[in-house]
Amino acid sequence: AEADDQLIIDAGQKQFGATVCGSCGMIYSADSLEDNFQHTQFHQSFLDGIKFVGWKKERVVAEFWDGKIILVLPDDPKYAVKKAEDVRRLADNELGFQQVSLRCPSQAKTYLYVNSDRMVVGCLIAEHIRQGFRVLEQPEQTKDMTREDFMEHHRAWCCSTTPEKAICGVSRIWVFSLARRKGIATRMLDTVRLGNYYRNSFVYGGHLTKEEIAFSDPTPDGKLFATKYCEK
Ligand code: ACO
Repeated sequence: AEADDQLIIDAGQKQFGATVCGSCGMIYSADSLEDNFQHTQFHQSFLDGIKFVGWKKERVVAEFWDGKIILVLPDDPKYAVKKAEDVRRLADNELGFQQVSLRCPSQAKTYLYVNSDRMVVGCLIAEHIRQGFRVLEQPEQTKDMTREDFMEHHRAWCCSTTPEKAICGVSRIWVFSLARRKGIATRMLDTVRLGNYYRNSFVYGGHLTKEEIAFSDPTPDGKLFATKYCEK
């Protein structure tokens, strides 16, 4: 069904009645009963996935006016690890990653942004790394490109072949579609780098500079965000 949806999208959405759900992100045909049914099901499972009931022990590493950041480590209780995995799966689904496993799951740190409505609206997975390769400036003209062309061209970035020292690899960063452009990704990354309450940063007892962070295989959104974040 996914391949069919893709074809419809490429042929032009309106003509064929394809709809993109603004919250769960599913592409479906509103005219089709079958599609509507599948969307309702997926939508519900998506909402269940981001629902956060609260835990007896939460490792809160930062608090904000509209939510908090909870850190989940691989050895945490099963319910915490499972929630982190559920959210990662939703994010991967949207990123188009198919079961890309983490480099080293026993070392990964998952930061979940939980909002005041008890929903996980952000997820950042960080891993220890030694080096990264800088994404090189794309010289080509992008002004006259359609969005599709842009996505096509910019999915594969040209990278430098010279490794540079890095310490923290952001293997996933995702924010719920209805909560974007409110600084949630920025706050998650700031917390990874600097911690809060003068502790709880990615590197125990220390801070990371922006240069010590690397993003793995960024999407167009991810690259725009990272570029902006790093120039601040
Ligand atoms: N287009 C242009 N600029 C952007 C975009 C965008 N889509 N997203 C962020 N920025 C820039 C803006 O300058 C923004 O500041 P402004 O809103 O004041 O202009 C600044 O970055 C900070 O943005 P945040 O609000 O902190 O970012 P947000 O919480 O919206 O999350 C993210 C950004 C994570 C990329 C989100 O768009 C997302 O989840 N996208 C889908 C998943 C995805 O592609 N993730 C990145 C994958 S790469 C990887 O995981 C390693």
